Amino acid sequence: MTAGLLLVGAGGLAREVLAAGLTAVGILDDDPALAGRSVSGTPVLGAVAAAAGRPEQLLITIGPSTARQRVVTALAQMGIGPERYGTFVARSAVVGSSSTVGVGSILLDGVVITADAEVGRHVVIMPNCTITHDDRVADFATLAAGASLGGGVHIGEAAYIGMNASVHPGRSIGASTTVGMGAVVLGDLPRDQTWAGVPARRVERRG
Ligand SMILES: CC(C)(COP(=O)(O)OP(=O)(O)OC[C@H]1O[C@@H](n2cnc3c(N)ncnc32)[C@H](O)[C@@H]1OP(=O)(O)O)[C@@H](O)C(=O)NCCC(=O)NCCS
Repeated sequence: MTAGLLLVGAGGLAREVLAAGLTAVGILDDDPALAGRSVSGTPVLGAVAAAAGRPEQLLITIGPSTARQRVVTALAQMGIGPERYGTFVARSAVVGSSSTVGVGSILLDGVVITADAEVGRHVVIMPNCTITHDDRVADFATLAAGASLGGGVHIGEAAYIGMNASVHPGRSIGASTTVGMGAVVLGDLPRDQTWAGVPARRVERRG
């Protein structure tokens, strides 16, 4: 018997998984302005640290890859391990029989994962992404809506692939690198950089 599921993070991704059919007991979020309120009909029950004293499974609904990674690391320091996390695969997502999805990951509607692909832990794959044969998507990576990976692509840990970006077959995206929306990635990208455009080039960020 399970004690149900708690979402961690009350932003847009939480509303997306709830709209996609997930049922959660409540949401934990560190924003004091949200305490006692509800998001899409699901109550905000307190701060993230409250997870340590509760029985439910957890699903991290924080969109940015590195923020999601930070929260999982902080929860691990409180003794919360992989066995506490659930996984959400939306009704219309398709995972090929030879592909795997790690614990804590979220696949929204219209995602297609074909053959022999490996999706790690706490990966978020937004609507209508396509992940094809032999791809490897490392822990904490995020694919925004409509992103497409050719075969044999490797997405590094906590990388962020923007909406409708495409990655050439066989290429690697470095850990924590961001790929802008609409980019066409033709080569291997190093870690901790931002690339955008067609073809993708390195972008100096103003922010
Ligand atoms: C690439 C990205 C991360 C850059 O963000 P940023 O650091 O705030 O970008 P800036 O506004 O400082 O732009 C830096 C430069 O890159 C260019 N640029 C930004 N995004 C671009 C994109 N997607 N494609 C092409 N060029 C882009 C800007 O025009 C600017 O160029 P300039 O210096 O010649 O004027 C962002 O624009 C992006 O595409 N994010 C992904 C968004 C997304 O898919 N979200 C999903 C939400 S669900």
